[in-house]
Amino acid sequence: MLKTDQSLKEMSKDQVVNYLNESVKPEEGVIPAYLLGNQTVYDLEHEKVFLKTWIFVGHESEIPNTGDFMTRELSGYSLIITRDKEGEIRAFYNMCTHRGMKLCRADKGNKSFFTCPYHGYNFKNTGELVGVPLQKDIYGENLDRSEMGLHQVKLQSYKGLIFGTWNQDAEPLEEFLGDFKWYLDIVVGRAEMEVIGAPQRFIVNSNWKIGSDNFVGDSYHTMVTHGSIAKLGMVPNATYSKRGFQIHTENGHGLNLGTPNPDFAFPEELIDEYKNNLSEEQFEVLSNLKNMIGNVFPNLSFLISHTKIKGKLISNTSIRMWRPLGVNKMEVIAWMLVEKNAHKEWKDRSRDSFILTFSPSGIFEQDDTEVFTDITEAAQGPMPFQKKLNYNYTMGLHREPVEFIGPGVAYNDKFTEAAQRNFYKYWLELMTK
Ligand code: FES
Ligand SMILES: [Fe+2]
Repeated sequence: MLKTDQSLKEMSKDQVVNYLNESVKPEEGVIPAYLLGNQTVYDLEHEKVFLKTWIFVGHESEIPNTGDFMTRELSGYSLIITRDKEGEIRAFYNMCTHRGMKLCRADKGNKSFFTCPYHGYNFKNTGELVGVPLQKDIYGENLDRSEMGLHQVKLQSYKGLIFGTWNQDAEPLEEFLGDFKWYLDIVVGRAEMEVIGAPQRFIVNSNWKIGSDNFVGDSYHTMVTHGSIAKLGMVPNATYSKRGFQIHTENGHGLNLGTPNPDFAFPEELIDEYKNNLSEEQFEVLSNLKNMIGNVFPNLSFLISHTKIKGKLISNTSIRMWRPLGVNKMEVIAWMLVEKNAHKEWKDRSRDSFILTFSPSGIFEQDDTEVFTDITEAAQGPMPFQKKLNYNYTMGLHREPVEFIGPGVAYNDKFTEAAQRNFYKYWLELMTK
């Protein structure tokens, strides 16, 4: 029987899978601590989760114009994402087809052609190789440029969110999102949305799963971790985070929906636009929304939260990725979104509300990342294996789901861990496939 981290390293892949099957029991609320601190698990996750599912890479509004491009990583490997003159968005593996140099090293810009810094091969933003220095002289008639275009990466979008995958057999993105689309519509499809500025990026010494877990279902912590916010009077009281619904759908997706809310915290001049983009039921959810926090499996979280700025309640919408950089390190990339057709003054206040709460300088963000770091540190010690330490994910196991106007399995307040159990259930399914 397994005693230490060392013995996991020495196991064959099949044995590791068996051990996961034996020790991880999401439906019973049993999640072992070693999952957050073990290198073997991390390596297997890369292969079984990050190379298999759809992973978020950016928002269409980040490259709005012909010739715009951005470089992003898809599970650790660089992509160039371009928009051509027909408006089509494509992703290419950021590797020159001559000898493998990274073709583009800028974060973003506007270019119709990319020239390789090594020998100068020139590629169009649609992927074709269009120029080779001294081609006739040095290759004669031997080089077929049409065979040497950039390698395209599988990309699909949903309501402006761009996802990529390395899995050629991945199900279509819309199938993978399934019923969860109903809720994503409210977050990113309620109106034409645009990203403000460049995404914020910062490094946290945390395992990536803690971020996903926190956003998918941990409303319970807000009362304590973020208790100072209630003391400052920025939210009505310390238990404000309990009221509402927790909902999860297939494939590990889940969210927490805070409701009711007496004040409409979105730009009122856009009500017609909201009604055009949402169903009646979705609009009802938006109208009563206090906050909405969730996670698209595996590592794309989103958040709508309200803050009082200059005496008026104002919403801010953001999406964030917990990008794994190691078993105990991740990069947080956070994009702030606003309604494109809102007034500038509203957009500015919404941005202020975001910066005050969720950003490297935001109050919530700092509260959370302190916790994530400490959990990760403890998970890496010998104790999780020696004593077979498990986390307790049993909250709400005794409760039955309720009827809700949207799809999925819903509970009628947010203090349950059903969505986290659902996250780990799908995680385990992929890890042991
Ligand atoms: S590696 Fe790019 S031109 Fe040679
Ligand atoms: Fe938090």
